[in-house]
Amino acid sequence: MIDPSVTVGSVRLRSAVMTASGTAGYGSEFAPYVDLATIGAVVTKSLAPYDWPGNPAPRLHPVHSGMMNSVGLQGPGVDAWLTRALPGLLDTGADVVCSIWGRSVEDYRRAAEMLSDAPNSVVAVEVNLSCPNLEGRGGIFAHDADLSAEVLAATEACGRPRWAKLSPNTDRIAEVARAVTQAGAEALTLVNTLLGLALDPETLRPTLGNGGGGLSGPAIHPIAVRAVADVRNALPDTPIVGVGGVATTADAIELMAVGASAVQIGTALFADPRVLARVRDGLVTEAARRGLGSVAEFTGLAAL
Ligand code: FUM
Repeated sequence: MIDPSVTVGSVRLRSAVMTASGTAGYGSEFAPYVDLATIGAVVTKSLAPYDWPGNPAPRLHPVHSGMMNSVGLQGPGVDAWLTRALPGLLDTGADVVCSIWGRSVEDYRRAAEMLSDAPNSVVAVEVNLSCPNLEGRGGIFAHDADLSAEVLAATEACGRPRWAKLSPNTDRIAEVARAVTQAGAEALTLVNTLLGLALDPETLRPTLGNGGGGLSGPAIHPIAVRAVADVRNALPDTPIVGVGGVATTADAIELMAVGASAVQIGTALFADPRVLARVRDGLVTEAARRGLGSVAEFTGLAAL
């Protein structure tokens, strides 16, 4: 028997496979396609301490080897999610990671405080420092190590492990990773989307309502692998959740081999939500084929 479970810091997950924030609705929509109690966790769309309308449509657009998005972090806010969406998700038996965002340090603080009494099945809080689709805030939080650390320090009141989700749009990712870890992040989620722009070939206007957006999917997978490898090298004791272009078991193993303890799947879910179950099972099958006793043993196996 291969043990499919992994740990991310103090959090034990039933599988190494999670949904990526913003790619699985409220989560319970996926129950017809996969037993949500058998994946690592459902990670929510990032939630602010208030409801937020997001960006103008269109918000998604397929491109070669991936997808562009500029949703603009639309959501009902933490309190509305806790009362209206979370109960249905918990009925599926899922463990949940709640992603939070804000336009200021104070917003993050309030969002974290609202989660202080959340049920225990909310096993961690992912602090999204890296959305590329917000204007009027002076840039992406995760491009500033000091500001990112300030945000992490402000989110302690959530009372559960915090994972900092960082941006690949910087060559300072290891520096930011170190700062947020020192400020209280128990783990790092690497990476969010890449800044991109796609035009309609006929009108030559941006395909997304907000202009540019974030690129995700297979095109960014090697970038995610590199980011995980670099941060693992800089911070070998900090657990990492790898995300970026995972569509197959081999993609997941690649991220784990360079140091991720678990992975998230996002863009591939838009084509087929059953990919969660395929990769969950594929990791077990591949661990057996390689003579490993557990899926967790893939972490750090790379011959770098
Ligand atoms: O536009 C969005 O909602 C994207 C969020 C993110 O990438 O974190």
